[in-house]
Amino acid sequence: MQKRRFGAAERDVAAIGQGTWYIEQAERAVAIAALRRGLDLGLNHIDTAEMYGSGQAEIIVGEAIAGRREDVFLVSKVLPNNASKLGTRRACEASLKRLKTDRLDCYLLHWRGQYPLAETIAAFEDLKGEGKILSWGVSNFDEEDLAEALAITGRGKIACNQVLYHLGERAIEHAVIPWCERHDVAVVAYSPFGQSGFPARNSKGGYVLADVAAAHGANLHQVALAFLTRKPSLFAIPKAARLLHVEENAKSADIKLSEADVARLEEAFPLGVKPRGLPMI
Ligand SMILES: NC(=O)c1ccc[n+]([C@@H]2O[C@H](COP(=O)([O-])OP(=O)(O)OC[C@H]3O[C@@H](n4cnc5c(N)ncnc54)[C@H](OP(=O)(O)O)[C@@H]3O)[C@@H](O)[C@H]2O)c1
Repeated sequence: MQKRRFGAAERDVAAIGQGTWYIEQAERAVAIAALRRGLDLGLNHIDTAEMYGSGQAEIIVGEAIAGRREDVFLVSKVLPNNASKLGTRRACEASLKRLKTDRLDCYLLHWRGQYPLAETIAAFEDLKGEGKILSWGVSNFDEEDLAEALAITGRGKIACNQVLYHLGERAIEHAVIPWCERHDVAVVAYSPFGQSGFPARNSKGGYVLADVAAAHGANLHQVALAFLTRKPSLFAIPKAARLLHVEENAKSADIKLSEADVARLEEAFPLGVKPRGLPMI
């Protein structure tokens, strides 16, 4: 599994990771086996959040990583409503408890809310000083939010920006990816399959995807992941509760798309005009 530098976290992290939103809806043993299989295959980035299943997803992740904490780049998120200075600390400590670990590799603000960014960042820095988190980042930040965070904290502190990115939603290519690349911030693509909105094989884009997939002896989902992680700044965190899906996602890291493949996919799934706000789900 190819690993790449994860922004200011200064850690090598697999380009393909594992999401956990709604993982608690799968049979527990199946979900745990899927996450563990992912770790066996080198999908070391596990993304969770206090929000997911109201803490249930973190509990499942805690079980999945028991005894192999060193194998994991563990990420969780604080909800905006909890992101005051004290609330961030409490939320982090509660996440650590559910995850049965003493540290997060990266802690994110899930999206911007009512509390001043400076307060949340101050809490992140305190938690980092105490070793409870090893790095921190943001999620659903557009380039203006990122610039505001940078003005507060300075360069070399923001590890990542986790944002919506899939074939049907490429809005971050307009300004967010270039900003992150200029400032050494990893870009993490969430909902890389559009959750349940993956392009149908018999759609216009689906035909192109299938064609590129056939040329690489791969399937459509694997090509989508290869496209979304085609640059060193990009990571993706597909959620897969099924073993087969985890194995397919891991294999996508072996696909090397040519410039012509990328151009065909870009044409089949057009970028579109820059939206006013950053799309999120
Ligand atoms: N920061 C944020 O605001 C935010 C927002 C949304 C998501 N996220 C994070 O991003 C993660 C991924 O996004 P998501 O869960 O919304 O959706 P997603 O990863 O785009 O799609 C998940 C769906 O794809 C299926 N799948 C996985 N691998 C597959 C494969 N190889 N072939 C066919 N289907 C496959 C899964 O099925 P099975 O589960 O049955 O295997 C599941 O139904 C989340 O779990 C979460 O960790 C973050």
